[in-house]
Amino acid sequence: MLRVLTAICMMMLMSIPAANAMKLKDYHQEIMTGDNGKVDCSFCHGEAKRKTIPEASVCESCHGSVEDVAELTKRPADAGHDVEPNPHDSLHYGTDLPCTYCHIEHKESKVYCNQCHEFEYPEMKR
Ligand code: HEC
Ligand code: HEC
Ligand code: HEC
Ligand code: HEC
Repeated sequence: MLRVLTAICMMMLMSIPAANAMKLKDYHQEIMTGDNGKVDCSFCHGEAKRKTIPEASVCESCHGSVEDVAELTKRPADAGHDVEPNPHDSLHYGTDLPCTYCHIEHKESKVYCNQCHEFEYPEMKR
């Protein structure tokens, strides 16, 4: 009996983080939930059984090219130092940073630049 209980407890402990870990962002949740009420992982992970970090091309298939995305967040040419820089077209990396360095899907998003800077980016949905 004790062994069965222990086994059940172990299963619960293991399944809770697993379920939480695959939470989606609010902004993706609805459109990526199928008629059966389940999230359709294939929108980002394709049909692969073993899920890996999606390539930028996956994000770009819906959001447009990285240049299009950079255009959305372009700063005015006369923006001064108090305007935070365009995260999608930066001084050091240009448009080369993978989307998933900042937009984390299953956890809170973070700004890669903030390993060294302290940008706030209030517009970013985390
Ligand atoms: C199947 C299409 C699809 C795919 C694939 C997809 N998205 Fe989205 N995404 C959407 C839609 C639709 C919205 C909600 C409308 C909007 O804000 O553009 C959204 C919203 C977002 C937003 C919030 C935009 C805002 O308004 O602030 C971000 C950030 C985002 N997606 C990033 C990503 C990243 C990064 C990936 C790749 C890992 C990705 N998306 C893959 C369709 C997609
Ligand atoms: C260096 C971090 C970083 C990377 C890399 C990054 N983003 Fe973003 N993204 C942000 C931040 C910060 C914002 C908030 C926008 C702002 O401050 O203007 C944002 C906003 C967005 C938005 C909403 C734009 C809007 O104003 O409607 C979309 C869509 C988006 N990102 C998609 C992507 C996609 C797709 C990629 C990869 C091609 C990507 N991002 C790469 C940091 C990043
Ligand atoms: C909107 C796109 C999107 C959808 C839909 C999505 N994922 Fe993810 N997934 C990501 C991104 C981006 C990462 C990279 C880590 C992160 O951002 O959390 C990831 C990482 C993972 C990883 C870890 C891969 C690794 O090598 O680190 C697993 C496992 C995973 N996802 C499983 C799932 C499952 C299961 C589903 C369906 C319930 C799902 N994902 C749906 C975007 C998505
Ligand atoms: C590994 C650390 C590191 C990362 C990550 C990093 N930066 Fe920097 N950045 C620096 C350093 C150091 C300087 C100062 C160098 C100089 O001024 O010549 C700098 C300078 C800058 C400047 C010029 C500052 C000014 O006042 O003129 C901008 C703009 C900038 N970074 C944007 C970004 C953006 C956007 C990102 C993320 C996409 C980013 N950085 C990521 C280290 C980093």
